[in-house]
Amino acid sequence: MSRPQHFGWFLARGFGPQGWGYPSLDWDYDWTRPEVYQEAARTLEQAGFDLVIIEDSPSLGSPETLDLRVRHAFGGPKHDPLLLAPYLFQATRHLGVVPTVNPAASLPYTSARQFATLQHLSGHRLGLNVVTDTGSARHFSDAPQLGHDEAYDRAEEWLEGIRQLWRSWDEGALVRDRETEVYADGGRMRPVRHRGTHYSFDGPLNALPFTDGEPAIVSPGGSGRGLGFAGANSDVQLALAPLHEASVRDYRARVHDAAVANGRRPEDIAILFAIQPVLVASAEEADRIVAASARPDEAALRQIARKQSSDLETDLTALDLDRPLDLSAFGGHVSRGSIQRLIGDRGEEAPLRAHLTALARTGRIADRTGFVGTAEEFADLIDELGEWGNDGVLLWGDFHPVTLHRTLDELVPILRRRGILRREYAEGGLQANLRAF
Ligand SMILES: Cc1cc2nc3c(=O)[nH]c(=O)nc-3n(C[C@H](O)[C@H](O)[C@H](O)COP(=O)(O)O)c2cc1C
Repeated sequence: MSRPQHFGWFLARGFGPQGWGYPSLDWDYDWTRPEVYQEAARTLEQAGFDLVIIEDSPSLGSPETLDLRVRHAFGGPKHDPLLLAPYLFQATRHLGVVPTVNPAASLPYTSARQFATLQHLSGHRLGLNVVTDTGSARHFSDAPQLGHDEAYDRAEEWLEGIRQLWRSWDEGALVRDRETEVYADGGRMRPVRHRGTHYSFDGPLNALPFTDGEPAIVSPGGSGRGLGFAGANSDVQLALAPLHEASVRDYRARVHDAAVANGRRPEDIAILFAIQPVLVASAEEADRIVAASARPDEAALRQIARKQSSDLETDLTALDLDRPLDLSAFGGHVSRGSIQRLIGDRGEEAPLRAHLTALARTGRIADRTGFVGTAEEFADLIDELGEWGNDGVLLWGDFHPVTLHRTLDELVPILRRRGILRREYAEGGLQANLRAF
């Protein structure tokens, strides 16, 4: 018997014009209106997903490379996912909704109040994907940009402050006695006084305490510091790692060790491995796609160059594909790790075409060289992850109806038949569903 697992959807390009540039995605919808997201959320709920996570970045990146980010809509425009959440809650009854939030962009008291409000409005279905990107610092103050670890320190101070505020109502503080006409007992509220490195504020919070748990904390950071943050704080960790047994077990052990080191239990964190499968009708079709991916045409290479230009904030589209990549094209703001990932083990002498071709190449799910395959083959992979103790899977894509249906139509019944995907939801919101098995 297969092990039941949790399923999430990562709305990978956030609340923005997803699908831009893909001819097959030219359906008549307006990304600035709630309907396309609501329809997708209903589909995910019908499929039995636990949650949807909405990617975000509050910034268009460095001022010198603005055009690269917006020209093909890879880096923006982008609207605020926190404000999309109520529309998705209204369209569904059980699905957890998890906007991405960055402590750089919000004050603990304001955030604690907004999140508490949404937790109540949604029937306890809110989650928060806490990220620590520092590139947008200039939009919020003129303080110097924090380093990687300092940004995690700030995130911990922010979350600790928010939790103190959420917990400012002691047991029994909410009285609601019609006889005595007492609504609440101020003597049972904690004052809360925080004077920290990054924030200073007083409580208590005026929003009500929760009946079915606090909003679920989700974290995506994979560095040592990121896993430490997850161990101390998260209900869900998003894992990006190779999907072979040693790597999956090692990743899980590192998160569990971090949890235990922080006085928590391994089962307090659901670890979801991120996967973006390309599901097709037959093994022959999968073979054809994989073979074609080794010989991408010029249009495919151009599309990859555009995406890389946005991600790396460096214009690769005007460069000669048949010459080695001149590393001086990259500004100081581009991380060496990102450049290294583009170049791989091909070295600096290889032409740009070789790097882009390598990015185009896909492999078969069946032989574990990639993510193209049939729904049955993909279900086999998920089954195997379950045998290694895996908690769940994070599927990755936009919210276009075509993307969702291509991914889910065949897969969902197969996963249900195998007992991997839930048939019903628990009562009590997102935390209850995450702890149901
Ligand atoms: C599945 C996944 C989702 C992520 N979503 C976001 C996001 O929405 N916004 C963001 O700024 N960073 C996002 N990140 C990046 C992380 O927050 C983080 O910046 C990155 O993993 C570096 O942190 P680390 O050094 O701890 O790995 C995501 C990463 C992963 C793996």
